Amino acid sequence: MRRNIVHTGAGQLRYEIREIVQTAHVLEKLGTRIIWENIGDPIQKGEPMADWIKEIISSLVSENFSYAYTATAGDPETRAYLADMVNTRGGAQIGPDDILFFNGLGDAVSTLFAHLRREARILGPSPAYSSLSSAEASHSGYEHLTSRLDPNNGWQPDLEDIRLKVKYNDSIAGILLINPDNPTGTIYPRSTLAEIVNIAREHDLFVLCDETYTNIVYPENKTASLSEVIGDTPGIALRSISKEFPWPGARCGWMEVFNQDKDDVFNRYITSLLEAKRLEVCSTTLPQMAIPRVFSDSRYPGHLKHRAAMFSKRADEAVTILSEVPGITVVKPGGAFYLTVVFNSDLPDGGPLPPISNAAVAEKVTEITANVAPDKRFVYWLLGATGICTVPLSGFCTELPGFRVTLLENDDEKRRGTFETLAGAIGTYLNI
Ligand SMILES: Cc1ncc(COP(=O)(O)O)c(C=O)c1O
Repeated sequence: MRRNIVHTGAGQLRYEIREIVQTAHVLEKLGTRIIWENIGDPIQKGEPMADWIKEIISSLVSENFSYAYTATAGDPETRAYLADMVNTRGGAQIGPDDILFFNGLGDAVSTLFAHLRREARILGPSPAYSSLSSAEASHSGYEHLTSRLDPNNGWQPDLEDIRLKVKYNDSIAGILLINPDNPTGTIYPRSTLAEIVNIAREHDLFVLCDETYTNIVYPENKTASLSEVIGDTPGIALRSISKEFPWPGARCGWMEVFNQDKDDVFNRYITSLLEAKRLEVCSTTLPQMAIPRVFSDSRYPGHLKHRAAMFSKRADEAVTILSEVPGITVVKPGGAFYLTVVFNSDLPDGGPLPPISNAAVAEKVTEITANVAPDKRFVYWLLGATGICTVPLSGFCTELPGFRVTLLENDDEKRRGTFETLAGAIGTYLNI
């Protein structure tokens, strides 16, 4: 072409969670029965949408207004409702104009990074959630900047590392965290959140907190919302109905913006996000309209409590099974519905793989594992040998070898069977 039309950040767009699907389909055609453990979609894994939520959505289907465009920032009534919800938490006080809707947080994340000045970097956790890390890397044209979550300390962040990275890299304009975290499931205690906000305040940064899983905190754990600790520092919290109704197909998420009036540059940046959204007209109307009706229903708190307890029990079950396997580190998550397994030593990056009974699959796995990261080699072998489709940790901006599974299988027997098979397969691979 006369001009190079490829964006400088194009090479940074990686989403291993879905990339592995292509490989799984190839092996499926060769006879492997796939157990999808890669994507965080509760509905796909058999969780039924609660009947009372379906009834609310059905009633909206009969309302004419559900078929109209809504305001660019989102349905005014819903934004007012959500702003009130923030205010009753007792921390930052916001208004409807501090809420901005998107077609899912995927859309929010790409808009957020697309409109951030190229030189302004965001420091995120490692392991990283790929949508966020890829968007940051692509926006900057460099590898995503990260600070380590420590598996030997319950996947908690290293605050000193964050402090030093921020201090010595003045391109950092914001600190990102995910609470509860994907993929580790770690929960940030209130004091840790407050400390991160302090670091941001000291260095004149903003805080970006992904709270997708905020209502899936296991019973024994405590955390806080960003709004409760942000004080007068600029901040953005990201929320979504994808994982908690759960309605991932709604593509409906929003930003809560704190203190846009306290910093001119932050204010201009937030305005640019609204202006960008205006070019798209608005986000999908109907799911937004469902939010106040579902959130204010007397059954909602019980619904959330039940799901958090359910995932906590599933996490206990998985950790108990996997703890029997030497050579790996498994930490019980404090929330969300993922489990991250780390290999304690380096994995082989070549040599023979343990046997796979289907010869065609074995041949394909040998071929596709020729030049991949050692944990990806394990994940591909696991896929061929057992059908279990996980995501290698190397796809999450970390050097720790391992993989992520979900706790989403709704059939108790199947889920238990999958974790038992997984435990056996790890043992076989590590030759234990
Ligand atoms: C941490 C985190 N943020 C954002 C998203 C995207 O959510 P949405 O369905 O709202 O686009 C996900 C989805 O898995 C997620 O895990």
